[in-house]
Amino acid sequence: MSMQIPRGTQDLLPGEIEIWQYIEQKSKEICSRYNYKEIRTPIFEHTEVFARGVGETTDIVQKEMYTFTDRGERSLTLRPEGTAGVVRSFVGNKLYGEASQPTKLFYTGPMFRYERPQAGRMRQFVQFGVEALGSADPAIDAEVLALVMSIYYELGLTDIKLVLNSLGDKESREAHRNALINHFKPSIGEFCSDCQNRLEKNPLRILDCKKDREHPLMQTAPSIHDYYTEESAAYFKEVKQHLDQMNLPYVVDPTLVRGLDYYNHTAFEVMAEGEGFGAITTLCGGGRYNGLVQEFGGPETPGIGFAFSIERLIMALKAQGKVPDFGNQLDCFLVTLGDAAKAKSVELLYQLRQAGIRCDKDYLDKKMKAQFKAADRLNVRYTAILGDNELNENRINVKNMETGEQVEVALDTFITYMKEQVEGGK
Ligand code: HAM
Repeated sequence: MSMQIPRGTQDLLPGEIEIWQYIEQKSKEICSRYNYKEIRTPIFEHTEVFARGVGETTDIVQKEMYTFTDRGERSLTLRPEGTAGVVRSFVGNKLYGEASQPTKLFYTGPMFRYERPQAGRMRQFVQFGVEALGSADPAIDAEVLALVMSIYYELGLTDIKLVLNSLGDKESREAHRNALINHFKPSIGEFCSDCQNRLEKNPLRILDCKKDREHPLMQTAPSIHDYYTEESAAYFKEVKQHLDQMNLPYVVDPTLVRGLDYYNHTAFEVMAEGEGFGAITTLCGGGRYNGLVQEFGGPETPGIGFAFSIERLIMALKAQGKVPDFGNQLDCFLVTLGDAAKAKSVELLYQLRQAGIRCDKDYLDKKMKAQFKAADRLNVRYTAILGDNELNENRINVKNMETGEQVEVALDTFITYMKEQVEGGK
């Protein structure tokens, strides 16, 4: 039996988990300012949800899904992304029928893709994502973009770039698609087998091919910008105007295509720009997916969202030196000397904790000196010292570890005293 952790997964241990909690907390708090509510959907879904939702021709569906047959012979898949499950839930729970529209949701949780692991690319990774369903107002595209950029900015990231494109509506895409087929068809033999397959099925994805990136025909490929319908062009213009109004910087990149099939109109990525970040620079991806709700049997409902992985966000925070010091995790450590004091400490600890104080004690029968060492290692703000003598005389010593000052307190007032100290120091 292999006791090694599977490739592309990781354990998050104390010491590392604080940054995760900090990011999750900050992101949720920002979502609540924007009036996005949390949704939790299953980690596995019927395979069809992703096959139809994400798209049969995508790398995710073709090569990267963790698909298995359960004991009831159903084909299930560990979710490779969050949007398809959220849309499945939106339709299944008839959220479109609720009075308050648009439905603005956020989610966080593990996603699974069988990719070749490297820094920033895991087989299990955690996405934080947002989906706004039910509005085709360009202002909501701008809101979603403002939301994600706020998360990055408020976490202190500066060297990042919002890259924006519009993939147009169905008509624009159809015209562009035909232009792409005409462009690549005569020389398709020079492209990889994936691209050859994509030519008729989904030629837009050729532009996203990593293997054929340097082929000269890539540079001269027809741009979607020349094929927008009037409505598409107007929509894109309005999204950009709203971003300008908010002073949110962005660059337009007509070659930006996304690796999932459901997008139309607005598509975007947030890229890390700083040095020392590594090969994978996409921090976040998202866009509009009008039509996906119908794909799942729901009424015509537009939608837009994004997702970023916390792993890549942490990489960026580390690269830019923006991981905060999480400082003091514990307020008080109880040091005891003698059996009676040791027994009493159980009760004191319980009372301290009930009073909201984060505290701990030794459980290994350590000598007093070693107990102080433990307190030091924990970087506590206060050490309370209780010996059998003090206990007899109804007193306890409290040492402020920052100032070194030590005071004697009557044991019956100890909990109140500690509460005042800890709360006063916050
Ligand atoms: P995506 O571009 O496939 O889009 O993934 C979004 C983000 O998830 C990426 O930008 C990256 O931060 C992270 N990510 C993807 N794969 C990995 C991996 N193997 N390891 C670590 N991080 C990874 C989506 O998933 C869409 N559902 C986004 C969306 C939501 N569009 C509309 N709504």
